[in-house]
Amino acid sequence: MITTRIISTGACVPEQVITNDDLSKIVDTSDEWITQRTGIKRRHISAGENTSYFAINTARQVLDRAEVSAEDVDLIIVASVTADYGTPSLACMVQKEIGAVNAVAFDVNAACSGFMFALSIADKYIKTGMYENAIVIGAETLSKIVDWKDRSTCVLFGDGSGGAYVEKSEDEGILKEELGAKGELWYILTQGYVGCSNAFNEEPLEKDNLWYVNMDGRAVFKFATKAVTKSIERVMESAGVKPEEIKYVVPHQANARIVDIISRKLGISNEKCYRNMAEYGNTSSASIPIVLNELNEKGLIERGDKLLLTGFGGGMTWGTMLISW
Ligand code: ACO
Repeated sequence: MITTRIISTGACVPEQVITNDDLSKIVDTSDEWITQRTGIKRRHISAGENTSYFAINTARQVLDRAEVSAEDVDLIIVASVTADYGTPSLACMVQKEIGAVNAVAFDVNAACSGFMFALSIADKYIKTGMYENAIVIGAETLSKIVDWKDRSTCVLFGDGSGGAYVEKSEDEGILKEELGAKGELWYILTQGYVGCSNAFNEEPLEKDNLWYVNMDGRAVFKFATKAVTKSIERVMESAGVKPEEIKYVVPHQANARIVDIISRKLGISNEKCYRNMAEYGNTSSASIPIVLNELNEKGLIERGDKLLLTGFGGGMTWGTMLISW
């Protein structure tokens, strides 16, 4: 049976670290509030590097670690909501910089679920036999889309990128997955509205100022705890896998309280629901691959371990995958 297997992982985050105390100097907040409500202590914030910088470095790292040459890469998919440009895609910029001249390259946008969608797409290309391998990346510079005067959002996010090189394999790899979307809730998390202003339209644009992340935090919280739990339950059930067989749940790192609830509802211990938002904050599509890379670099996972990757985000969207490492 052909599967898609993660061969290597990588990550690249800005060197600049902003603590909760640093934030309390620019908005009316405190380390205590941020830690209690979110579990976030620090975040890495760009000192001017744009998203392509992080994505390119991640791609170089995953290729080096997989010992694959760039010309042999078939496909590059980057998940992001903060590309440098509307066009070209980040994936095309990555392709050029690493010299993957034979790769097809495109971006996907499923907000914080983006890496799950990108990995799922790569998996289908590989399983259908169209391509043999792919670089899949989640990369964000959320600091450029956050209103640094809005304490309810600016404390939540961080910048960075994570990714993986995946390949066709006859060993176990991606075992089960579920992607989902609930468009009826699109308005609870928005960013980057672009009004239709043109030479033939003299009407004033009402929504011109909706560039920054705008979020109904409580509604997102409710959606996340419900959708993610149900999605994990369905994936485990269809795979016939029990909670005790899972080595780690790799959840999107939006909020420690969300992870606590998921852990409690599923009966999977808190230690198994990995979290590193204390160090990085919410890096949207980059958060899941940054965690994967951390688990890998720390030697916490071994080949054959079962991992449950699960993301949720704007749209609203979600994606869960059971993989055999
Ligand atoms: N510092 C101090 N006080 C704050 C801050 C802050 N940074 N932000 C908000 N507050 C205040 C509010 O003004 C409010 O004050 P009031 O009661 O006087 O009006 C009070 O704290 C409570 O505000 P809530 O928004 O109700 O706080 P809540 O407990 O819901 O926590 C949070 C907010 C952390 C955003 C939470 O709702 C949450 O985690 N939601 C999930 C959404 C999420 O994680 N989004 C991440 C991005 S989306 C994604 O990744 C998919």
